[in-house]
Amino acid sequence: MNIGIDSISFYTAQYAFDLEKLAEARSVDPKKYLQGLGQERMSVAPPDEDAVTLGASAAHPLRRDGKLDDIDLLLFATESGVDQSKAGGLFIHGLLDLPSRCRVLEVKQACYSATAALQLAAAHVRGSPGRKALVIASDVARYELENPGEATQGCGAVAFTVAADPAVLALDPEAGYHAEDVMDFWRPNYRREALVDGKYSTRVYIDTMLHCWRDYAGQSGRGLEDFERFCYHLPFSRMAEKAQVRLARALHAEADGKRIEEWLEGTREYARVTGNCYAASLYVALTSLLDAPGKDLAQCRLGLFSYGSGCVGEWFSGVVQPGYRQALYTQQHRAMLANREPLTYRQYEDIYHFLLPEDGADHVLPQYRTGPYRLAGISNHKRTYEAVDEGTPSL
Ligand code: CAA
Repeated sequence: MNIGIDSISFYTAQYAFDLEKLAEARSVDPKKYLQGLGQERMSVAPPDEDAVTLGASAAHPLRRDGKLDDIDLLLFATESGVDQSKAGGLFIHGLLDLPSRCRVLEVKQACYSATAALQLAAAHVRGSPGRKALVIASDVARYELENPGEATQGCGAVAFTVAADPAVLALDPEAGYHAEDVMDFWRPNYRREALVDGKYSTRVYIDTMLHCWRDYAGQSGRGLEDFERFCYHLPFSRMAEKAQVRLARALHAEADGKRIEEWLEGTREYARVTGNCYAASLYVALTSLLDAPGKDLAQCRLGLFSYGSGCVGEWFSGVVQPGYRQALYTQQHRAMLANREPLTYRQYEDIYHFLLPEDGADHVLPQYRTGPYRLAGISNHKRTYEAVDEGTPSL
């Protein structure tokens, strides 16, 4: 029995900040961001968006199309959780009016958590093939201003259902994984911004990727030429190129720049204009690839590498299913990205510095452009979310 991703939907915030403007403000050559990191824009979440609203908005089309009517497991994968106790998925469960006979929990291990959620969801379905699970990966990536990580900030969410006989991607049974206690990137509970040892983190990413590959290849016997494309966790889009070059070199494969590009084609377009989406990032790469025009990927095998600092990594793979394009939301994704409102540097900084109230009094939040859901206010330390009509205000 095949198990895997049956439907997949992506959402990002409605504001975008151009990295050329950031380069100007930081007196940096824009080519460093555009070519060196491979990033053009970052999505910026306004004060009334958070990991919950991004995630709910990603899942909204699946709900509208009746794809969530029979789920009995909701896994919310995030490292920008809004509560130390309550699972953020419960707010989404309420907003989307999901079935009450449902297990709901939050999964955390930096950017790896959505892959853990996918594998847990697949095991859940394998236990009884009638079951269906919803995984929502959602994050807001935030570093200190003027930190080298600043240019890689971003936000976004991907929602996908996991079911038997999936319409999009059937998972292979093999998975290679690796864990190690390292401090390459972390965020203590009292901080809004992540801390990172940038160069070290890229080295740990590559080393972990190679450990995972050896485990995966040992189980599957597959080599590079068994894959049509490789999707990577994308803290910035050039990371995929670095990783693929190192993988090819480790396997003594003849792979020039053109071959490396072919393996990655289509996977980085969305990340380039949204920035890092942490837990959602690998699945943003997958959505970008599936939505890409050109070659029909039906029956093609994809390799996927998930990395979460701290760290856990995993290589896994799957086969794209015939007719997969009918199950996608390609036009909606493209329109959403094209219609984002550009920010000036001043607006970017104002949003960055906005602090949510923490005093327990009644607060109504200013309304920005959002997706179908927004954070309406905070009262008595409780967040209140609401559905939004089309045509919300711009800045
Ligand atoms: N023209 C063209 N290219 C230029 C350039 C110019 N004028 N100036 C610099 N570059 C190139 C550099 O040569 C470099 O490319 P190579 O890596 O191929 O040498 C690239 O631009 C970046 O330049 P630096 O290495 O000097 O950049 P930096 O040290 O200031 O910052 C970074 C890079 C460390 C990745 C930083 O962005 C960062 O800290 N990011 C956050 C951490 C991160 O993303 N880590 C990734 C692995 S951890 C992970 O994956 C988990 C996660 O999601 C965070």
